[in-house]
Amino acid sequence: MFARITGIGSFLPGQAVSNDDLARRGIETSDEWITSRTGISFRHLAEDGQTASDLGLEASRRALVAAGLEASDVDLIIVATSTPDFIFPSTACLLQSKLGNHGATAFDVQAVCSGFVYALTIADKFIRSGSHKRALVVGSEVFSRILDWSDRATCVLFGDGAGAVVVEASERPGILSTALHADGAHHGILSVPGSICRGQVTGDPFLRMDGQAVFKFAVRVLAEVGEECCKAAGIPSSDLDWVIPHQANTRILEATARRMKLPMDKVIVTVDRHGNTSAASIPLALDEAVRDQRIQAGQKVLLEGVGGGFTWGAVLFEF
Ligand code: ACO
Repeated sequence: MFARITGIGSFLPGQAVSNDDLARRGIETSDEWITSRTGISFRHLAEDGQTASDLGLEASRRALVAAGLEASDVDLIIVATSTPDFIFPSTACLLQSKLGNHGATAFDVQAVCSGFVYALTIADKFIRSGSHKRALVVGSEVFSRILDWSDRATCVLFGDGAGAVVVEASERPGILSTALHADGAHHGILSVPGSICRGQVTGDPFLRMDGQAVFKFAVRVLAEVGEECCKAAGIPSSDLDWVIPHQANTRILEATARRMKLPMDKVIVTVDRHGNTSAASIPLALDEAVRDQRIQAGQKVLLEGVGGGFTWGAVLFEF
């Protein structure tokens, strides 16, 4: 029995916001600086009041239509997010309510930018165990809410959005291998080190990052975990048709492809138009590449995440 991706959907809020738009809004930056360092030209930003469950709802509806299913057909809902609507209930439960599903298992996964590969791996294990038959796996983020808009080194990098996949039990091959890792010793290089205590924010409620440390760490572990996943599936990485790494910036994508000896024309890139949407970046890129028919039935696709924690992981599947 395999877990197979049968429907994909995504959603980006509002209009694309360009680098020049950010400069016009008073951030001391330039299109030249941002594009040359990161490859990012645009990002989408949620409206005030638009939450992770709202974005996830649109993406989920599209994924369910693509799979030919109703929300009531799903028996497992996993939402990967670091920007939940509330402390509790989980964004997965709020999404479940908006979808009109009653009774499915529903919970959130917190693995920052690796959240989607963590959530998809968990869904794979639930489905292959036989306990669940149809999962909705969602990555949804409103990172604009946790950015310090006076810190130009971080606020230009991120965007908001959501992506979702339906995963069903199938005798046809689907997910072939998965690998998940974490090392909390590196928690300090990317974090939002704040909390709520007795009605007050304690610590710092904004995203803080050591960009160069993150860069080096991300490239190393993305290449390693990609190779690990290929080995577990018994295929050389040269047999991959497509790689969809977490869309942090194009220099990380290029350096990872070089380490894995893969040409860039096998790497799906959306960071130029989406920015870094954390747990949403992989399903957003997957949806785009399936809808524009670059990814074809039967092809082998590697998804790779890396993010705060530090966490990292990969999922290799046949589409
Ligand atoms: N516009 C203009 N100038 C800027 C900006 C900006 N937006 N941001 C920083 N600068 C300036 C700095 O002030 C500094 O100026 P100074 O030399 O006068 O002090 C100069 O640019 C260099 O700053 P650095 O922070 O050293 O820039 P660096 O070359 O490291 O590039 C970057 C920063 C792009 C973030 C890089 O470290 C990087 O790509 N890191 C990867 C991290 C990443 O992508 N994280 C995403 C989240 S993590 C994840 O998803 C896994």
